[in-house]
Amino acid sequence: MSEEIVTLVTGGNRGMGLEISRELLQKGQRVIIGSRNLEKGQDTVNELAQEGLKADLVQLDVTDHNSVESAAKSIQDKYGYLSVLINNAGAVFDFRQEPSVVEMDRLHKDFEINYFGLIDVTQQLMPLLQQSKQAKIINISSMMGSKTEALNPESQVYQAVAVGYQSAKAAANMYTVQLAKEMQKKNLNITVNAVDPGMVATEFGGATPDQAKAMGAKPIEEGVSRTVELATDENNDVTATFSNADGPVGW
Ligand SMILES: NC(=O)c1ccc[n+]([C@@H]2O[C@H](COP(=O)([O-])OP(=O)(O)OC[C@H]3O[C@@H](n4cnc5c(N)ncnc54)[C@H](OP(=O)(O)O)[C@@H]3O)[C@@H](O)[C@H]2O)c1
Repeated sequence: MSEEIVTLVTGGNRGMGLEISRELLQKGQRVIIGSRNLEKGQDTVNELAQEGLKADLVQLDVTDHNSVESAAKSIQDKYGYLSVLINNAGAVFDFRQEPSVVEMDRLHKDFEINYFGLIDVTQQLMPLLQQSKQAKIINISSMMGSKTEALNPESQVYQAVAVGYQSAKAAANMYTVQLAKEMQKKNLNITVNAVDPGMVATEFGGATPDQAKAMGAKPIEEGVSRTVELATDENNDVTATFSNADGPVGW
């Protein structure tokens, strides 16, 4: 019998994390929802149960090392391995702040969650990913982290300014590339990819999904499609890429 696919989705309690969890559950994966607030996480698990889907739950604040360590330990104790890690938790703290004056505090917060948190979770779960026959790390990045897009006057990103968030996503992209190369060099069957969901109608950045839609954001199901495609790809031969639903995204 083939190994059950055990997937952890950080920030799985709402937004794209919830939709990714829902779709992977529908496709038969065992999904662990990482939620920094257990009550919110339990509400999400209950919501999915109403749809006939059984999700697991772990407390996980990606910016709190103790929380990351104990989440890794509880996954180790309960499952013994992890097949797919989806680093989805993310936030922006410096939207519309000009680079010449943006406060240091906001820059630190952008990096704490989008870069250091992502790396801490990845490192703590690496031993469990290595226990799986084949494993995947999918980093939810953003076109906002693409320098190619930021320099392209035709791109939505050209006018946008959130330099801390953008830099943290660009840094996470470089981590993606370097980790993917390390896995290859060590002959480990672990792929590492970055995904751009596009502009998606969630509560990201403090807007309501309806406000986001009015600004041109796409439905959440479209935003998660590339991630779900990678997470369910049986070949697992794609690594070190940055892509969205339409294909490769310029770094
Ligand atoms: N929406 C977009 O247009 C868009 C575009 C490009 C990329 N992205 C990226 O897509 C990912 C998901 O975004 P989304 O649109 O679904 O946003 P969202 O609706 O704001 O959801 C963000 C999720 O991250 C969680 N989170 C926040 N801080 C956390 C922490 N310290 N530890 C663990 N979880 C934490 C939130 O939990 P709480 O409920 O506890 O706050 C929530 O579950 C993010 O990485 C974002 O950067 C979004």
